[in-house]
Amino acid sequence: MMPTELFISGKNWKLSLAELASYLEARKIKFEVQFFSKEFFAVSVEDGFGASTIEDLGGTIKIGEVKAKFQTQIVKEAFLQKSKQAQSQITESLASSGLVDEMAKSAEKVFFGVSVYCAEKTLRPLSGVIQRFVGSAIKGELAGYGKKSKFMGFSKDRKFAQLSHVEVLKKNLVENKAEVLLCIGKEETWVATTVAVHNPFEFQKRDIYKPNQRKIFAMPPRIARIMVNLSSCTPGKVLLDPFCGVGTILQEALLAGAKVVGVDVNPWCIKAANENLEWLKREYSLEGTEFRVLQGDVSRLAQKIGQETVDCIVTEPDLGPALRQVPTGPYALKIIQKLEPLYFGFVEEAHRVLKRDGRLVLVTPYINTRSGKSVTMPIGEKLENCGFKRVQPLTKEMFSEGAVGLEELVGVSSLVEVDERHKIGREIHIYEK
Ligand SMILES: C[S@@+](CC[C@H](N)C(=O)[O-])C[C@H]1O[C@@H](n2cnc3c(N)ncnc32)[C@H](O)[C@@H]1O
Repeated sequence: MMPTELFISGKNWKLSLAELASYLEARKIKFEVQFFSKEFFAVSVEDGFGASTIEDLGGTIKIGEVKAKFQTQIVKEAFLQKSKQAQSQITESLASSGLVDEMAKSAEKVFFGVSVYCAEKTLRPLSGVIQRFVGSAIKGELAGYGKKSKFMGFSKDRKFAQLSHVEVLKKNLVENKAEVLLCIGKEETWVATTVAVHNPFEFQKRDIYKPNQRKIFAMPPRIARIMVNLSSCTPGKVLLDPFCGVGTILQEALLAGAKVVGVDVNPWCIKAANENLEWLKREYSLEGTEFRVLQGDVSRLAQKIGQETVDCIVTEPDLGPALRQVPTGPYALKIIQKLEPLYFGFVEEAHRVLKRDGRLVLVTPYINTRSGKSVTMPIGEKLENCGFKRVQPLTKEMFSEGAVGLEELVGVSSLVEVDERHKIGREIHIYEK
């Protein structure tokens, strides 16, 4: 039996799950998704999967190691029907899980936290009550070991009974094995210890401390890393960004162990991307990494870097002008039509430079309009005419038998990322040669 891990995803849970699946598949790590929801995923993963993986993922906030599991029905009885017997069952399950033994090892007074992630609607309003119940049960257990403890509480008006990743980091809860995750699924409930937490300061550092930045064109490093993972990029592969700008995607690919190649038509970008990659190499002690950044127009990509020379292409060509307000449908269409020649020309060149079975991860604009309808770029047909095949990052075989709700995940080949502050979102396409 493969051990089960819990994953708390970032805001865009479908993108996070697709990233995780692509990451594991590319490394031939066996896995099966037992349960998924926007609150959390329960995934059994082959032994050897480590907590440090979180540094490689852009879309995972926390990873938890499962210590106990019980039926959600018991949680319903305990908190909806207030059954004392069901409550004792939960307390016993927590006691025999080994959670507390690890916490009790610390010499001083134990400081711990509890976060509740609830995919079961009927229990969601009771998350705060459940969180305090679990906290008291653990406190009681620790007292049995002769340990004093403090439970990290927070105000009742907090929307979710959850500690943020920043709180977990600041209070050293991972090192002390002192955050308990209670993840309530529709059928089953898992109890876990947090073994890894996303470090937003690392991503922020790469975003705002790199020597050269461009505000309007900037892609968040977190999204860049997700796209690199969707491209099946593993250490040693050659990854190309032919619209590299200041090199956000190249930076993440370099950290993922790829040999990177960047191209941009703008000479300032070449200098800027080179300096950014040099900075990254120093900052992260990446000795022996290889990168090349060349000036050139994407219409002559094959001539510039050679046919069938790269394993992955990950890129965001141009999302159109920065908009002050939500555009009308006809204006959005105009933006798209103006960009089409650039994208269509690129797709042909991309097919030439990519090796067989290589992947292309491409962003096209996703524009919300005043009527509420979105306008997107019809790139699929062009890609298929050039010889690309659609990749579905999530397939039925990745899920346990009987998993419900698969229709909204399986068969999807593009994923949308919309940031509320921006009028133009990203549609991320995944294709293979
Ligand atoms: C959206 S930006 C890429 C941003 C990049 N992902 C980043 O975060 O730094 C698009 C880039 O494409 C470049 N570009 C536009 N037309 C091009 C062309 N025909 N060939 C090569 N590069 C081009 C622009 O100079 C610009 O730097």
